[in-house]
Amino acid sequence: VNGKIEIPVIVNVLYRTAAQNISDAQIQSQIDVLNKDFNAQNSDYNSVPALFSGVKANVGITFVLEKINRKSTTKTSWGTNNAMKKTAQGGIAPTSPTTKLNMWSCAIGGGILGYAQFPGGSSSTDGVVIDSRYFGLSGSANAPFNLGRTGTHEVGHWMNLRHIWGDANCGSDLVSDTPTHNTANYGVPAYPHYSTCSGTPVEMTMNYMDYTDDNGMYMFSTGQKNRMAAIFASGGPRAAFGI
Ligand code: ARG
Ligand code: ZN
Ligand code: CA
Repeated sequence: VNGKIEIPVIVNVLYRTAAQNISDAQIQSQIDVLNKDFNAQNSDYNSVPALFSGVKANVGITFVLEKINRKSTTKTSWGTNNAMKKTAQGGIAPTSPTTKLNMWSCAIGGGILGYAQFPGGSSSTDGVVIDSRYFGLSGSANAPFNLGRTGTHEVGHWMNLRHIWGDANCGSDLVSDTPTHNTANYGVPAYPHYSTCSGTPVEMTMNYMDYTDDNGMYMFSTGQKNRMAAIFASGGPRAAFGI
């Protein structure tokens, strides 16, 4: 990938209440967070500990909001079975999913902040879903998930990143420059937090692909950057983005 990676974004809003009909400004705030976090422009980037300064990465991917679709609904929660992406189930079908990132803002329910589809899945369900309470900068009301990092984390998945603990005890995220973590971390762990996995490395709890609070996550690694870039390269599962 040599050219600049620029991702057109479609935001699909499903609302039952006025609060769920999030404003254009709220939506733009999420796009702005993505642009900061994926370009090492986030204000907390310099909080990355010296131990990881050699691997913290400017991913270099830009997001451009192209269109907002809105639809009212009587559904109180959409779950995680992709109903929000299907017109026949009252949802909004994705727009040009092979060349645009579709995001859905809706009430997911079940305490789920968001979920994403990895590369290689059906185009009819491709994209990321974020609960409307955690979409963009949502003020103090939705702390500690009010800094738009659910979007950053989910777009990370959409670009092929796994959870940093590999969804298993001392599991692998298929990225070599991220340390092995015992399991998910929550809240804002005190630094340094040591893993008891092989080699007892200091865990990279401030990585976007952990489960910490929004103010506890502020970096991607170079290995994650390369894994993301690979999906847009020729022959990659998102090569149609034409980068
Ligand atoms: N639980 C969600 C997932 O696994 C998102 C977690 C996002 N974390 C956050 N601090 N916003 O995809
Ligand atoms: Zn996740
Ligand atoms: Ca790793």
